Amino acid sequence: MKRTGTMFEKNQMPHDWNTPVYKALKAYAASGTLPFHMPGHKLGAGIPDYFLTEIEKLDLTEIPGTDDLHKAEGVLKEAQDLAASAFGALRSWFVVNGSTTGIHAAVAAACRPGQRLITSRDCHKSVVNGMLMAGITPYYIMPEYSDEFCLSTGIIPDELEKAITAAPDAPAVFITRPNYYGICSDIKKIAEIVHSHEKILIVDEAHGPHFSFNDRLPVSALEAGADICVQSAHKTLPALTQGAYLHIGSDRVDQERIGYFLGMYQTTSPSYIIMAFLDIAREIMQRQGKEMLDRLLDSIQANRGRLGNGALRLLSKESVPGFDHDATRLVVNVSGLGTTGYETEKVLRTEYRIQAEMSDFSNVVFISTAADSPGTTDRLFDALACLQQRSYSGAGPAAKAAGHEHMRKWSRLKQRHADLMEQQMESWHAASLEYRDIMGADAERVRLADAAGRISKCVISPYPPGTALICPGEMITQEAVDFVMDVARAGGNIHGVDRDGAVLVLCRK
Ligand SMILES: Cc1ncc(COP(=O)(O)O)c(C=O)c1O
Repeated sequence: MKRTGTMFEKNQMPHDWNTPVYKALKAYAASGTLPFHMPGHKLGAGIPDYFLTEIEKLDLTEIPGTDDLHKAEGVLKEAQDLAASAFGALRSWFVVNGSTTGIHAAVAAACRPGQRLITSRDCHKSVVNGMLMAGITPYYIMPEYSDEFCLSTGIIPDELEKAITAAPDAPAVFITRPNYYGICSDIKKIAEIVHSHEKILIVDEAHGPHFSFNDRLPVSALEAGADICVQSAHKTLPALTQGAYLHIGSDRVDQERIGYFLGMYQTTSPSYIIMAFLDIAREIMQRQGKEMLDRLLDSIQANRGRLGNGALRLLSKESVPGFDHDATRLVVNVSGLGTTGYETEKVLRTEYRIQAEMSDFSNVVFISTAADSPGTTDRLFDALACLQQRSYSGAGPAAKAAGHEHMRKWSRLKQRHADLMEQQMESWHAASLEYRDIMGADAERVRLADAAGRISKCVISPYPPGTALICPGEMITQEAVDFVMDVARAGGNIHGVDRDGAVLVLCRK
């Protein structure tokens, strides 16, 4: 049937039309795959139907009555004020290019060109790129590491104190909390330390906008004393991809500078659909978030025990002493299966029709949100229990030997990611380049295999999680090259290495 007002005859796309992205999305939606990944609305399950009908009619621009994000004084101001009060901020901005742009603006606003920013070496690449663009130089803190789960956990107050002593001129400290695995550093203590040195605390809370809506979750950054907090609403709230908030928590922050950089870094044509859903997500969470999250947490709680002390281990608060953990972030260590996280993710997708958010060598990560129902959590745990059962019953001596051989093959990947990051950091000190000099420096592409000894112009990182293994300005070590190649061979996706296996390095003088 023809829709009124359109020039197209049919209500369905003719089969010979060439729209590869659209077709891929439709195919995924029709596949019945259970999404344990972002966006947090879970294929619309967390959004009432009435908000989703005729969504195309909401795709508007700045016309009378719709306000202007860059000079908000009407409905957008009202919606941002509502967000500020829901999240406990002094002021909030809508951001339409994800936390990435919020982080770029926060970093540029908090430090001046040439100044240093204290941040954890496992920060998201947007922090590194934000510093590059603003001519800010990092003072990196090495994060703590969990040997059991083979992942970095966060920063501890002692290391922060040491960093502040070593970089007393840095006006701000930037922490990532929670990290991709839902692990939370002790933010109250960190805020206390940062403020006692009269610095600003910026928190990348990209993965934690839901913290404000349920007391069973870790304390939110704003409640714990963050001065600036950036959240990807699209990751864990019923918001659309790219929707993010930047909140101001205290009057230590120069709001003018935040507005200045957001105005500079954001498009002049922000999507009204994304902005409307930032507002809708806030309203849904304020009205029903507690109840929805209670239902989710109860269902996770009821299922956790099903893995017992088997080959699969589920990360919990007890796994990371000294840190808190977001119980909605399901991190399953698969080392006991004698396989990699990458392969387990594939098995879950192809055999159980469950799509995880990401995997690394040792773990698979599932994002569960308020939009999940007990049925979806049950289905995930059914699949995990089944995988675990298979590993016991299917593993005869031959299978076990193959498993061990497999682990030996990739054993270099068990080398601590953090050790390599630390080595890379030392290579940066050796190269002694300021971030502001790297942006303007001439660069060339070389094959990764030939890149040892060259200075990287870009972040090179397994993605997700997007924490930089090699940062701009660092001399690429042979160990890092081997590691990246092994991750790629094992099925990991690498940012910073192009399709032809080349990386961007500074030209030799
Ligand atoms: C810790 C962290 N910070 C920031 C970002 C960037 O968020 P966005 O994708 O909303 O730009 C990500 C993205 O995955 C992330 O994992």
